[in-house]
Amino acid sequence: MNASAGQSETIVILDFGSQYAQLIARRVREKNVYSVLARPDVTLEEIRQLNPKGLIFTGGPSSVYDNGAPRCLPELFDLDIPILGICYGMQISCQILGAEIKPTDSREFGRASLSITQPDGLLKNVPAETPVWMSHGDQILNIGENFVALAQTPTCPYAAIKHKTKKFYGLQFHPEVTHTPHGSEIFDNFLYDICGCSGLWQMSSLIDSIIADVREKVGPDEQVICGLSGGVDSSVVAAILHKAIGDRLACIFVDNGCLRLNEVELVERTFGEHFKINLTTIHAADDFLGKLAGVTEPQEKRKIIGHTFIDAFKDAAKKIPNAKYLAQGTLYPDVIESGHSLAGEAANIKLHHNVGGLPEQLGFDLIEPLRDLFKDEVRRVGELLGLPEHLVWRHPFPGPGLAVRCLGEITKDRLDVLRKADNILLEEITAADLYRKTAQTFAVLLPVRSVGVMGDGRTYENVVAIRSVDTSDFMTADWSRIPYDVLATISNRIINEVRGVNRVVYDISSKPPATIEWE
Ligand code: XMP
Repeated sequence: MNASAGQSETIVILDFGSQYAQLIARRVREKNVYSVLARPDVTLEEIRQLNPKGLIFTGGPSSVYDNGAPRCLPELFDLDIPILGICYGMQISCQILGAEIKPTDSREFGRASLSITQPDGLLKNVPAETPVWMSHGDQILNIGENFVALAQTPTCPYAAIKHKTKKFYGLQFHPEVTHTPHGSEIFDNFLYDICGCSGLWQMSSLIDSIIADVREKVGPDEQVICGLSGGVDSSVVAAILHKAIGDRLACIFVDNGCLRLNEVELVERTFGEHFKINLTTIHAADDFLGKLAGVTEPQEKRKIIGHTFIDAFKDAAKKIPNAKYLAQGTLYPDVIESGHSLAGEAANIKLHHNVGGLPEQLGFDLIEPLRDLFKDEVRRVGELLGLPEHLVWRHPFPGPGLAVRCLGEITKDRLDVLRKADNILLEEITAADLYRKTAQTFAVLLPVRSVGVMGDGRTYENVVAIRSVDTSDFMTADWSRIPYDVLATISNRIINEVRGVNRVVYDISSKPPATIEWE
């Protein structure tokens, strides 16, 4: 959470350790209301600074009876700010407000049928009988004098409640998941009717405030350096900074020899020619490939590429006068996971790759214009800034590039084989309208050769594996069910058009136990 969150209407979401915390934040933003995540023990002073129109307390894995179960300040209920407690967020609130909670031996998990007894307020426009998604251990035994029941399920008499005098509402089920089909109406009711939000927050107003922040920060004689990778995040960073400070942005793009087919031309055309951004391409392929010669171990490849990249970047940065800032494409999930947001360490800590990250010892101050945004919001910003669709919707590409997809030894010839195969794959996936439907699709060159027959002759050539996955978080993934005829065309074209390949295989492993990349 940073200054640009000074949006006029904010909802603060207290994260009690829910796997759905970010999803709730997204749901609120989809309603055109700005949202931020915060730790459950957020202070009253922090809350006052954020000046929220409402609070949402998430679910969480704890029981209110656990030692060290996360709690919030009881004073939050006296601020006259509407609060929606979901699952654990409801239980902990009810405990603080005097209701009786019952620990249960078994968790209730899955679909339940909600019967609404008070069809107005929070549950306005929701059908009287509707499916909802439950996932909880404890539940409320007795709401006591202070609450009113709004809805029930066959096993849960207090599936939705409200406080009689305070602006507190509780749901035992999860309105944020798609398995609760009328969750959207519940968010409408809470955000617009109960909190009084206008729903006027827009991505374009966020862009304006990011631009204003950058203009205020960067002095008239100062330069900002931005490392372009060809990926969506750094592209959007460059586009927004260029809009803010024009020629005071200097972009550096390092060709490490492990890029995709025509990637250098694409970046130069888009940023240099179209946006007229001050762009320097460092042609360092020979340097990288020289250092990678003979190296087959994946982590070693990563290390070599990382170090060589930093050296190349440093050299280029030294040549930019008055460079004071380094722009990075840090996103909100990275900020949350690193524990640097108000959500702190209570949020899920995930292992994630440092995508092209540059070390702080480069000596620049950081500018991170996207640090309040989720990935799909970054894509929306990219579209609003006029970036071409194929850049905005590009699949993620690892920092070490094709080096981790060219298994075994890396040579220019092997990389060229891989580049051509990968390009055919992407052409066909795009032609079949599957590019936007899959999360990541790419070719891998295997370090084995196999026997084949072409014409009348025996061949002994390379194997290309195709990897395509469906995922939203890249932590788990399933292999994409690409239709057989599309796979057949891809295989035919690769074997016919790419010299040196006589076999194509399709990877049908999910993650876990496999990973998305092969190295
Ligand atoms: P895995 O292979 O771990 O990949 O399932 C998950 C996601 O991370 C990307 N990835 C990387 N990104 N540097 C990066 O910048 C890397 O070394 C790296 N390794 C994997 C991968 O493409 C997928 O999106």
